[in-house]
Amino acid sequence: MRIQIINGPNLNLLGKREPTMYGSTSFEDYLVCLKAEYPDVDIEYYQSNIEGELIDKIHEVGFSFDGIVLNAGAYTHTSIALQDAIRAVTTPVIEVHISNVHKREEYRHHSMISSACLGVICGFGMDSYRLGIEALKENYKNKG
Ligand code: DQA
Repeated sequence: MRIQIINGPNLNLLGKREPTMYGSTSFEDYLVCLKAEYPDVDIEYYQSNIEGELIDKIHEVGFSFDGIVLNAGAYTHTSIALQDAIRAVTTPVIEVHISNVHKREEYRHHSMISSACLGVICGFGMDSYRLGIEALKENYKNKG
C-alpha cells in the first residue's frame, strides 16, 4: 500500500512554529516514528508552501497511490483550486489538522476542501496523521 502525506504552507516549521499550538516535534522526526509503526506501508512525504506545487503533487500521485493524507494548512480555508484537484483524482484524500480548528478563530471553521475528501481528522496533534493512515488502511481493506 502506498500513501502520500502532503503538508502545506508553514508546516515545514513544525517543531519551531507556535509550539504551544503545534507541538515541539519536527515533521521529519515524527515521520521516522510513523514509518516504523507501518513497515507494511510505503509512506512518502512532500511539503510545499506553494499552492500550485501542492496541486501538482496531488495530480502526480492521485491516480496511482492508495491514499493521500493532506494537511493543506491555511489553504484549507481558501483554496477552491485544491478542492478541484482533490475532485479531479481517483486516490482518496483524508484532510487532517494538528489543531482542533473548530476551537480556534471563526475563519478556520470552514474548509474549502472537506467536501471533496473521504473524511476529516483534526485536533489530535501529530497523531492526526496516524489516524489518517488508519482511516486509509481501513478504506483500502474494505475496497478489497
Ligand atoms: C492547521 C490549521 C490551519 O488553520 C492552519 O492555517 C495551519 C495548520 C493544523 O494543522 O492545525 O497552518 O492545518
